[in-house]
Amino acid sequence: MPDVQLTLNNHSSNEPICTSMDTADNKPTDDVMCHCSGTKRDNIQNLFEQGMDMHAISRWTGALSGCGGCEWDIADFLKQLADQKKDRP
Ligand code: FES
Repeated sequence: MPDVQLTLNNHSSNEPICTSMDTADNKPTDDVMCHCSGTKRDNIQNLFEQGMDMHAISRWTGALSGCGGCEWDIADFLKQLADQKKDRP
């Protein structure tokens, strides 16, 4: 399958909505992972890099404290970040 580069633009200003896709799972950094709290992927990554685990990130951001629908996605993302960190020299 060929690589596809997708650019999302804000139609009113023609500015890109999504500008970076350098997270562990190659999804947009401004992707909202927890819709109940509005917690974005890049915020979760920053807190992980500061040493927070899932419970601390939940307390800090409010993620996982609503419907719980984001739990699997956030846990999977944190696992990917942990795996990447383990592989670093
Ligand atoms: S989407 Fe995260 S708690 Fe509801």
